[in-house]
Amino acid sequence: MTKYYWKELYSEINGCQKCRLCEQRTNIVIGEGDPKATIMFIGEGPGRDEDLSGRPFVGRAGQLLDKMIGAIGFRREEVYIANVVKCRPPNNRTPEESEADACLPYLRVQFALIRPKIIVCLGATAAKYIYDPNVRITRDRGVWKDKKGVWILPTYHPAALLRDESKKREAWEDMQKLKQKYDEIAQNT
Ligand code: URA
Ligand code: SF4
Repeated sequence: MTKYYWKELYSEINGCQKCRLCEQRTNIVIGEGDPKATIMFIGEGPGRDEDLSGRPFVGRAGQLLDKMIGAIGFRREEVYIANVVKCRPPNNRTPEESEADACLPYLRVQFALIRPKIIVCLGATAAKYIYDPNVRITRDRGVWKDKKGVWILPTYHPAALLRDESKKREAWEDMQKLKQKYDEIAQNT
């Protein structure tokens, strides 16, 4: 990949019409956080609140994500938060494969610029496009994958935790695993 800069990435995304999700969006939600973060969280795509504000994970699911991040001693400003697609799918439907494929090059550039050591996939959509098209989140969550030296942890999407409280204990365990891995990495660098 040729060298990219944030400025170029932003100017390329702004006004993007590479898929039809551009038609109904209010704002493009690129992502936010520490551009040098060790941990990158990746969700599915903007919902209503995100579309209106232009910021990732600011609605109910976002408040829960903040708590998950806080539970292991971080603030959201200390990690980086992005999504597979940058424009809101109508009625919050799952992005189609063609839409994800159109948008993923942006996420790859974000990844290349940040160079996080850990990626947390929030839910099946992120996990599917980031490391395994056949992922099943109930089966695969909480198990680390090592992809070219980057640690990947799939876990439940916070919206799934809002729908089913019984998943919260496992999600909490996953956050503890995340903290452990972070500490391990911090010790060795
Ligand atoms: N759900 C997501 O997947 N991403 C957001 O930014 C908000 C809700
Ligand atoms: Fe472009 Fe991504 Fe928005 Fe599609 S979802 S229009 S590819 S920014």
